[in-house]
Amino acid sequence: MTLTMMGPPGAGKGTQAKLLGEKFGIPVISTGEILREAMRARTVLGEQARGFMEAGDLVPDDVMIGIVAERLRRPDCQPGFILDGFPRTVPQADALAATLAAMGTRLDLAISLDAPEQEIIRRLSGRRVCRACGQGFHLLYDPPPHPGRCGRCGGELHQREDDVEGTVRARLHAYQEKTLPLLAYYEARGLLRVVDGVGPIEEVLQRLLAVVSEGSPRA
Ligand code: AP5
Repeated sequence: MTLTMMGPPGAGKGTQAKLLGEKFGIPVISTGEILREAMRARTVLGEQARGFMEAGDLVPDDVMIGIVAERLRRPDCQPGFILDGFPRTVPQADALAATLAAMGTRLDLAISLDAPEQEIIRRLSGRRVCRACGQGFHLLYDPPPHPGRCGRCGGELHQREDDVEGTVRARLHAYQEKTLPLLAYYEARGLLRVVDGVGPIEEVLQRLLAVVSEGSPRA
């Protein structure tokens, strides 16, 4: 299975991609996570990306395309993979198709998780992430067992720098302007499935599993 999870910030892409990845035993490639890790490690990539991410803007296509192409060529992606947050622009989608074609495969599904703006703001303002292991929580919807502490490793929880309201609005704007056109792109190729991302996490997962089990259009 090869699929990409799209949708506005806070739609639940990361949460659901992780659950699907565990269920199907395939890697999840989160471009946001790769960039945050690079920023934490202060690599050249991290320093390149920092200004864009802190402003809520997209990191340039050439940087993102190189990272994902390199990651997809690793052997663990051979049985399949889930992309979380890539592609986000039409040039990224074209580059993804070319990379996969060179690997002798292609995308099975492009799933767009949908959520209204009010819900997105509620989700992102309540999100807390573990500094040590990256596990995400939500103060209301998925609270950590002990306040301020990760339920998985005990690490310190913090709010993502780009989850402050002004930056969330900039991320929503970048989504509308640059990523939304991808829905028509994938619809034209018969790959798009739109899934309602509102409701309990388990309920959204069941909706996604139903879409995935309908099978790939290439089958
Ligand atoms: P990225 O990390 O991908 O951020 P995003 O797309 O804005 O996505 P989020 O992680 O905020 O939301 P999500 O949809 O994954 O929701 P989540 O499951 O976490 O990217 C960050 C930045 O990196 C970008 O702004 C850009 O600068 C750069 N970047 C990344 N990829 C790029 C690319 N391809 N090209 C260029 N630049 C790129 O859930 C959010 C919260 O809601 C959590 O607290 C969760 O617990 C909660 N929640 C989830 N589901 C539910 C539910 N059903 N009900 C209630 N709460 C829920």
